[in-house]
Amino acid sequence: MIENIEVVESQIFSTVIAEEIATLVSQDIAEKGSCSIALAGGTTPGAVYRALTTPPQLQEIDWKKVSIYWGDERWVPKVSPQSNYHMVEETLLSRLGESKPTVYPIDFDSKSAEAAAKSYEKTLIDNLGSPPAFDLVLLGLGEDGHFASVFPNSSLLNDKKRYVAEALHPNGQERISLTPKCIEESKKILFLVTGERKASVIKRLFEGEDPASELPARYFTKEPKKFPNLRWFLDSESASSIS
Ligand code: 6PG
Repeated sequence: MIENIEVVESQIFSTVIAEEIATLVSQDIAEKGSCSIALAGGTTPGAVYRALTTPPQLQEIDWKKVSIYWGDERWVPKVSPQSNYHMVEETLLSRLGESKPTVYPIDFDSKSAEAAAKSYEKTLIDNLGSPPAFDLVLLGLGEDGHFASVFPNSSLLNDKKRYVAEALHPNGQERISLTPKCIEESKKILFLVTGERKASVIKRLFEGEDPASELPARYFTKEPKKFPNLRWFLDSESASSIS
């Protein structure tokens, strides 16, 4: 097994990952008094976020010392069930007690996805410096190998100037996304992948030769030694096709 891959039984995946995240966040808070996290969207991380709000993880994290950002967002109203803000509100923020994190959603009031991306990049640089370096970035993986909103043939793969950019889902939905350039500045990157339907893309990612233009997450697996700060957490179903 490739050294930066950890396979976790599906039934206990969300609990194990929540424990790992709680440990990493608490270490940062102990070392420097704060922790900045860019959260993944989609459906996979919801169970992990819920597990973070149940004991013992809930008590383990001093949430008021955590700042929360989004790795990507759909250009929809903030309250839309499609927004990643809504998913995080439902699975994490609404379930925390008195000790609340500082939350930096994208600017849903911007006049366009492009303007929202520019505004968010300014927020990241104002808060985290330049280049903006998160303490922790959580990412999911699409069946087409996309991460955040970096889809196949995305210009973001070669964008070495921007940290946040507007993007387009293949179905035409506008998105705002961290660029790979921003993500790789992070101190720690965790990919969280679950489910049988991801087994095929995981096999292509770790045993195939697809270019990143066709399978964007190959950006991180083509030369894994370039990303010592990156770990893959796969559940047993998504890892079922790799040796
Ligand atoms: C989004 C996510 C996206 C997601 C993958 C996997 O906004 O949808 O940021 O990158 O992580 O599409 O999605 P699932 O977890 O739903 O399979």
